[in-house]
Amino acid sequence: MEKKILLSQLATDTLKGLSSNPKYLLSKYFYDDEGSRIFQDIMNMPEYYLTDCEHEIFSTQKEKITQAICAGNKLFNLVELGSGDGLKTKILLKHLVEKGINFQYTPVDISAKANYELVESLKKELPTLQVEAKTGDYFRKLKTLNGHASIQKIILFLGANIGNFSENETTEFLSRLSTYSNSGDKVLIGFDLKKSPAIIMEAYNDPHGHTRRFNLNHLVRINRELDADFDIRQFEQQTTYNPQTGEVKSFLISNTEQTVQIGALEKVFHFEKWEAVFMERSRKYDIKTIEELALNHHFKVVQNFTDQRNYFVDSLWEKI
Ligand code: AVJ
Repeated sequence: MEKKILLSQLATDTLKGLSSNPKYLLSKYFYDDEGSRIFQDIMNMPEYYLTDCEHEIFSTQKEKITQAICAGNKLFNLVELGSGDGLKTKILLKHLVEKGINFQYTPVDISAKANYELVESLKKELPTLQVEAKTGDYFRKLKTLNGHASIQKIILFLGANIGNFSENETTEFLSRLSTYSNSGDKVLIGFDLKKSPAIIMEAYNDPHGHTRRFNLNHLVRINRELDADFDIRQFEQQTTYNPQTGEVKSFLISNTEQTVQIGALEKVFHFEKWEAVFMERSRKYDIKTIEELALNHHFKVVQNFTDQRNYFVDSLWEKI
């Protein structure tokens, strides 16, 4: 059921994106099983500092985070949007379990395989933890999470996933988050911070070719799931950084004039030579903007957890 909905959603979104001028595809579709694996390779590159920073924050500040999220000894639901492999979250989960804290964990991810693997590994590593995984687009799943309004929610949105959103999407996401939060609920959001552009470019401008593979895999996915005939050799990948907007943008660029047929859409798409398809945005923030975002959506900033180098922040907000 879920699979079918996602498929037709992929078809509709692909049609819309490739019929637009300029063309775009949606970055949420990067994460099929293969894409989730390639993203692991990205996270493992030493240049991709984001994962290391957030790992450092969770390892060195897990007790402070625990103190800040647990008010009293009341049961709470720890919801994670875009849980992936849960590597950083496991540090916190383990700490909470060891301290005998009363909570349940609800990971939400678009990849069924990532979810399955996370649940299986948690059964082994933390057998007493109550886990209820949900598979799907977290933008949509958000509204199903208010089932037990009486239980306090702590919502994790880590890894700088928020950086993928446009300004409008950020507003819509935070508005929904705010609507589905009750007073006293908390959210912990990971933001990548503005820093020397050279450091940012190294993380995205692909010293090992993983970012290129990650982007091209989107076309491979369309080939497979929508019966298309993209020739990935005829696309180059390029990343740019704009230090004023804080936006890293990734593009696939057609290196020849070509047409691509998408069977499921019964349509042919034309690409000019050097025409670019916008694939992904990874926005970098500053603390002031983060605090404004919180206030604009009826949250107050409780505490900012940053790494030693101040590259990254996990910002804890409470619904007013
Ligand atoms: C998973 C969205 C946080 O934007 O840094 C990494 C994805 N894309 N390299 C990011 C990504 C290219 C990543 N997020």
